[in-house]
Amino acid sequence: MPVLLAIRFAVIAALLALLTGLGSAASTDADRLPILPYPARVSGAEGFLAVQNGFRVHVDGPVDPLLEQTVARFLERLSAKTGIRFLAPRAADQAMATLRIRSTSPTPVWPGLREDEAYVVEVRPEGATLQAANAFGIRHGLETFLQLVEFGAGGAMVSALRIEDQPRFPWRGLMLDPVRHFLPLDVLKRQVDAMAAVKLNVLHFRFADDQAFRVESKRFPKLHEAGAEGQFYTQEQIRELVEYARQRGIRVVPEFCVPGHTAAWLVGYPEFGSRPGPYTLIRSFGIFEPTMDPTNEALYPFLDELFGEMAGLFPDSFVHIGGDEITGKHWAETPRIRAFMEERGMKGWPDLQAHFNKRLLPLLNAHGKRVIGWDEVLHPDLPRSIVVQSWRGQKELGAAVRDGHEGILSSGYYLDLMLPAESHYAVDPLSNGGDALSSDEASRVLGGETCAWSEFITAENLELKLWPRGAAIAERLWSPRERMDVPFLYARFPRLLEELGWLGVEPERIRRRMLARAANDSDSLDRLTRVAEFLEPVKRYHRADSGDYTVFRPLNRLVDALWPESMAARGFRLQVDAAVGTPNLAALAAVRVRLEGLEADARSLSETVVGSALLNDAAGDVERLAQSAALAADAVRYLEAGKKTPPGWLERARTSLSQMEARQGEILNMLFAPAHTLLDALSRSPAEQGTFKDSQP
Ligand code: ACM
Repeated sequence: MPVLLAIRFAVIAALLALLTGLGSAASTDADRLPILPYPARVSGAEGFLAVQNGFRVHVDGPVDPLLEQTVARFLERLSAKTGIRFLAPRAADQAMATLRIRSTSPTPVWPGLREDEAYVVEVRPEGATLQAANAFGIRHGLETFLQLVEFGAGGAMVSALRIEDQPRFPWRGLMLDPVRHFLPLDVLKRQVDAMAAVKLNVLHFRFADDQAFRVESKRFPKLHEAGAEGQFYTQEQIRELVEYARQRGIRVVPEFCVPGHTAAWLVGYPEFGSRPGPYTLIRSFGIFEPTMDPTNEALYPFLDELFGEMAGLFPDSFVHIGGDEITGKHWAETPRIRAFMEERGMKGWPDLQAHFNKRLLPLLNAHGKRVIGWDEVLHPDLPRSIVVQSWRGQKELGAAVRDGHEGILSSGYYLDLMLPAESHYAVDPLSNGGDALSSDEASRVLGGETCAWSEFITAENLELKLWPRGAAIAERLWSPRERMDVPFLYARFPRLLEELGWLGVEPERIRRRMLARAANDSDSLDRLTRVAEFLEPVKRYHRADSGDYTVFRPLNRLVDALWPESMAARGFRLQVDAAVGTPNLAALAAVRVRLEGLEADARSLSETVVGSALLNDAAGDVERLAQSAALAADAVRYLEAGKKTPPGWLERARTSLSQMEARQGEILNMLFAPAHTLLDALSRSPAEQGTFKDSQP
């Protein structure tokens, strides 16, 4: 665009912004940017940069194909977000570039554990600069820039500011489990894009477990042929995925869990099991007995060859050997194995597991790999080079780093527990359950990984269960420790979801589609969509309590379509807290209207729910939602009127709520907490205390 025209546009846009208060001339609030994870250091400046037709990027630095791809992808995404077509960088654009990118060194082909991921971005009304060592930092800076693009009266723009940013931890992972439910390649690629958007940098796959072995092995084909029922990743697909992740600065760490959780391996190769077999694929969920026999000398050449084959597929310097949840039952039941342990003075199965790991480690090291395992691998006999992934508790991480190991934290970061984002956000990798770590010990904490085990997660609803909660953990691992503002975390979620939407990651669309399948007309769908916002899946592992689940049972019912944490329910709970905190008739009326609407929605759904195969097991939940909404609305009416409740009403209301709570199964009613808040407020009210009338003139 001719310079004069650009200036004129900027002036018009600035005037418009002044008039509308958008992108106002006031300086950027450095502590309130819509970025997730939040940068380490931000300083605000005056004005904003317009992102308009003619926006040009210039890249300066060593020739770097990875950086070129990164910039090309950035421009595509900026085009998608703004609806403006941007041209690829050209040398001739140097003088008039809107965004100047400068890298100082070529990017390593494969991302490693401690890359320089820092970047500095500076935005001024006349242009922006982005600097980093190489594509790792540039990528993060471009993600930040994309998140900064807002829309004002003058169109797309970025507030003027300066950001100096770098991660707090080098290992920021997401663990996916394609075993219990298979996750096709396109779904995985979308999650890689989402990970890059929130600056996660390790994708950890548990590829094999009791229910399946999901990677093609050309060397031992019975692993995937007998162990995957046709649902496995071909080696070509693995290469495609690893390359896709590489281009986004993400390491792929494969986990082949041994020696436990190995039923699916033993279906094809029973000779490596502790018991004679035959073995079958396990269909249910939990902890099972099939375990490899560490006393079998033939096991080690087998694992050596398999891990060697896999090392060729997964170039990352780490391989994960699992190691969790061994029961030792098959070992104890096998005389040959018991004798082996007795001869060597082994006191229990942990000693035999350590023996196995000690045999395995040099083989993996010879394939150029460092090893990571779940915290059960921790044993005094093990070399300190092994990295420990702590899942049972923070104490295990403390024990590992005190013992000289490096470690990462996953305890507290399990997304499959369906807990609220703020509970994960509160978990700090260095807090160690309150026991201080020395600076030396703390330096061995590499970071953390959020885990999404797939017993109750499918390819269809994966991203409904991952985002935005996963972003809370991403921020904990990236941003300074002091960044702990919970309301501000939640305030950024809607914008983050919009950003993810540009990448095709659309949990709300998935939720709506799953609900549409269950509701039989669009009117019911709208009601169901609103009602479902006050329901959440049961927390922790209680969904498995019924024992009715197998890998074959479809996960397409109401509970599967729910947000693990409903932002609407959270917002309503806060609205009720505020309304009773500073009693205010308008606020109470708004609460009541919402409850009346919810009751009406839930009641009018009853026929649909009973008549739908995918909803009818939730009929009681919907009915109780209507009842609790009615009860809460009554409480609000008493509060509004300042009247004493009829004798016994409060007690009956409390009993009724508790009875309803006790009947919850797979689905939790998110109205119970605000209903209790309202009853508590009512019992404290002047009318109820008998002081109201007395205090009146
Ligand atoms: C695990 O959750 N069993 C590592």
